[in-house]
Amino acid sequence: SPFKLFSVSSHTLSNETIQLADIDWDNLGFGFCPTDYMYVMKCGRDGNFSKGELQRFGNIELSPSSGVLNYGQGLFEGLKAYRKQDGNILLFRPEENAMRMQVGAERMCMPSPSVEQFVEAVKATVLANKRWIPPSGKGSLYIRPLLMGSGAVLGLAPAPEYTFLIYVSPVGNYFKEGIAPINLVVEHELHRATPGGTGGVKTIGNYAAVLKAQSAAKAKGYSDVLYLDCVHKRYLEEVSSCNIFVVKGNVISTPVIKGTILPGITRKSIIDVAQSQGFQVEERLVTVEELLDADEVFCTGTAVVVSPVGSITYLGKRVSYGEGGFGAVSQQLYSVLTQLQMGLIADKMNWTLE
Ligand code: COI
Repeated sequence: SPFKLFSVSSHTLSNETIQLADIDWDNLGFGFCPTDYMYVMKCGRDGNFSKGELQRFGNIELSPSSGVLNYGQGLFEGLKAYRKQDGNILLFRPEENAMRMQVGAERMCMPSPSVEQFVEAVKATVLANKRWIPPSGKGSLYIRPLLMGSGAVLGLAPAPEYTFLIYVSPVGNYFKEGIAPINLVVEHELHRATPGGTGGVKTIGNYAAVLKAQSAAKAKGYSDVLYLDCVHKRYLEEVSSCNIFVVKGNVISTPVIKGTILPGITRKSIIDVAQSQGFQVEERLVTVEELLDADEVFCTGTAVVVSPVGSITYLGKRVSYGEGGFGAVSQQLYSVLTQLQMGLIADKMNWTLE
């Protein structure tokens, strides 16, 4: 059985040469591409995840009465594997995703895999789908772990059983703009999160909640939506799928994590990279006025990496930044981060796992 090759406990991410999948590696966007294997691990009423296994990628069977389908009891994660020039494979900070899933699971009343179970499962899934990792410099393998209440419920309650699943897909740039600047519109009516809600964890419902504003913005030609806090409608929160940063002189500011903002792993990494590059970084309340007055604005996320913002539209007023490319600061941070992720510069932080 091919599974033996990828046994979860005894493998290394090796650099043996393999035959790549037959797809157009030069034109990867951020669309789903089915791959060979997915990882499935179940947790029963005892609250313990049993040993998981790799299965052929395909549809899953779920009770119509499952907690995830009826009451949205679900979380997801996102991380990436990169193929290095020497053929070795790098994972970027997978234990951070494991820990974030644990925090989210606690909020959503779900049991979660241990950090070790999570990371081993990610490695096994990546190895099993090795031929789908893009050639160095052409993209990455996006890894999507899910945790869901798969057991049946009818009355509102946590599900009696849970499924942890990982699938992967090769990806390139997230926005259709590629690495060109995106155009954001500030949303003034709809909100993504509320104090005391679930905005700070990666629950599936947070993403369904932004579809309406996002669709309306895209229909008007914007790339995506920037959300404001729901109390004052004045402080920046985040974009539908990424965090936001504002640059003024040598100071880089980003909204402070206080329960309504997703604690991005790229956000956290960029804060560290920026500090190491001599910038002053402030995590605090950032106003929409500061945004409009900024020298540069950029977004961060696993999917979007570092994405420069070319314009912001707020209550009908459009403000542009830069001259159609990366600003100097976002270019510098993008360059250091992606070189780290792709193994092109020494990883003093110990963020990558080979
Ligand atoms: C990611 O950046 O990995 C995310 O989870 C955002 C998602 C909407 C693509």
